[in-house]
Amino acid sequence: MGGVMNQRFVIGITGASGGLYARTLLQILFTMPVELHLVISEAGWDVLAHELNLTQQDFEQFIGSLAGVASTEAHINIHDNHDLFAPVASGSFQMSGMIIIPCSMRTLGAIASGCSHDLISRAADVILKEKRPLMLVTRETPLSLIHLKNMKTVAEAGATVMPASPGFYHHPDSIDVMAEHLIARVLDQINIAVPGAARWGDR
Ligand SMILES: Cc1cc2nc3c(=O)[nH]c(=O)nc-3n(C[C@H](O)[C@H](O)[C@H](O)COP(=O)(O)O)c2cc1C
Repeated sequence: MGGVMNQRFVIGITGASGGLYARTLLQILFTMPVELHLVISEAGWDVLAHELNLTQQDFEQFIGSLAGVASTEAHINIHDNHDLFAPVASGSFQMSGMIIIPCSMRTLGAIASGCSHDLISRAADVILKEKRPLMLVTRETPLSLIHLKNMKTVAEAGATVMPASPGFYHHPDSIDVMAEHLIARVLDQINIAVPGAARWGDR
């Protein structure tokens, strides 16, 4: 890579409910000229299998199929969540930001405590210390005081906590439209505008 850094994002998928959000995010990001580093936790794989009926092999095929379509602009690297030798584990590997989607309370807690135990929590730790944008699309309800305190801690450290709470003001007629709207809001945070995204004030 030359002197100017490409947009390079880490995407973490953990074992909270909301695999649909992760899949939608990847579908949209694949049409953008970005470099993606994808890490999926063990529980993340389990929940993807349960909610989207996708095994690890199916999901890798899905990513391969996205990579094969003509509109694909992105370059994607998949890392094992146990691989602490992966480039995204180090601050010397320049990254534009990280999105954890969905983000479990366990991973939130690991980030809040600074006790990174896997590649997802380590990469988030690095993103925070390097002062890059970190978006946590958390999902749990109701929230305990521990969850709320962890959210406060990470927000004070510079992360953006974006609970997966879809809006209804754009009259979504399907769960895919609800997911796309949430993803557009997440990508707004890293200055990526999703073409055609519904916005308040648009006609
Ligand atoms: C079907 C299913 C749904 C789950 N949903 C949530 C959830 O919405 N939020 C959450 O924090 N944990 C949820 N969990 C529990 C996490 O998967 C569990 O805490 C796991 O240890 C998270 O690990 P990870 O952060 O490494 O992915 C769910 C588990 C299963 C099996």
